[in-house]
Amino acid sequence: TYPICMATAQFEPNYDETKVPKFEASDLLTTFDGKKVNDTSGWENTRRPELYHFFEEQVYGKVPGKLDSLSFEVVEGSTEALGGKAIRKQIEVDMFKNGKSLSFHILLYLPNNGKASPIFLGYNFYGNHTITDDSNVIISNAWAMDNEDFGISDNTLTKASRGVRTHRWAIEKIIDGGFGLATIYYGEVDPDKNDFSDGLHRLFYEEGQTNPKADEWGSIAAWAFGMSRALDYLETDSDVDAHRVISFGHSRLGKAALWAGASDQRFAAVISNNSGCGGAALSKRKFGETVGRINARFPHWFSDTFTAYNDNEEALAIDQHGLLAQIAPRPLYVASAEDDQWADPRGEYLSAHYVTPVYQLYGKKGLARTKMPQTGSPVHHTVAYHIRTGKHDVTEYDWEQYISWAKKFVAKEE
Ligand code: GCU
Repeated sequence: TYPICMATAQFEPNYDETKVPKFEASDLLTTFDGKKVNDTSGWENTRRPELYHFFEEQVYGKVPGKLDSLSFEVVEGSTEALGGKAIRKQIEVDMFKNGKSLSFHILLYLPNNGKASPIFLGYNFYGNHTITDDSNVIISNAWAMDNEDFGISDNTLTKASRGVRTHRWAIEKIIDGGFGLATIYYGEVDPDKNDFSDGLHRLFYEEGQTNPKADEWGSIAAWAFGMSRALDYLETDSDVDAHRVISFGHSRLGKAALWAGASDQRFAAVISNNSGCGGAALSKRKFGETVGRINARFPHWFSDTFTAYNDNEEALAIDQHGLLAQIAPRPLYVASAEDDQWADPRGEYLSAHYVTPVYQLYGKKGLARTKMPQTGSPVHHTVAYHIRTGKHDVTEYDWEQYISWAKKFVAKEE
């Protein structure tokens, strides 16, 4: 009957292009009060900061201050990793604030070539030990999401899950390409659950506080903050070229990688792999996942202020292209997958396309065409995009593209 249909219609995601609402993507080179931005200084001093504040206040939430201190310790290492072609280091990062502390571990592989290497830095979903079969990788004792397929129960990681995510991390290809890889289990920075009594947020509470304030950070901003603290360590490691650290992430962690790149100009480049809603994809298309859906299912990811846009995306003063633009003029790669309609591949592409005029201010090439490239035909400019066949995932194909693009746009020329 009619009322029931109406009710279900509200909860059915839209996958029909003809039902995408008409909207205009706000001009990146006009400020909120209507002033034209004509040059790089207008971009850097006026427009980019106002976009940053918009996303900070309305989407991801503000970080309430700075840490009191930070320390690093290399707790394990070898110069004979991956059959001798790589150096492995495991670093404990300790963060201190208000008499409280939290630690996370960076797993770092670097080419064994005596050079300071450019690296990809990105979180993993189930622990550093899942990304490789290397039995020396320390198993985290942080809270983890149960996963029957991976043998994870009681929210505890064990060696049963060693190597279960190797397919997502093309370590050998990365090393052979002259890059290093740094990864962190995201649950060590903030467990991915709607509970603000643990993780990073707790360190910043004032006496008696139990939750971030309405305009303060959710989990995505906390993960982004953790990436910056990892970069603080990388700057101290002479085997790393800290001017060439690429912020990488898949899906929710792609949202975090983008926000890390926007918040911290030290990141040399950003790669968004299937980051979708609240990441690279335009919200106003309401295609696949929407703002209302993401806030309902993951209330802890964004600031509470973001809920004002539930089913009200048109009210956003700027869409997610305003996030991607903050990466400019640094290299930016957005990637989609054909079967990942939930993340709205077209919305991801268009968002990257819209940032082109900002890159042009710097004489750099974006994605000039409104038409999406064909599946399997990557476009590699300073702004890059590909869509591949298959599902929501990170594949060898994705890494092959990232490595060849990063060689051209991020690595130092010999
Ligand atoms: C869910 C969520 C997405 C997110 C994804 C992931 O599908 O709705 O927004 O990107 O999980 O992180 O894998």
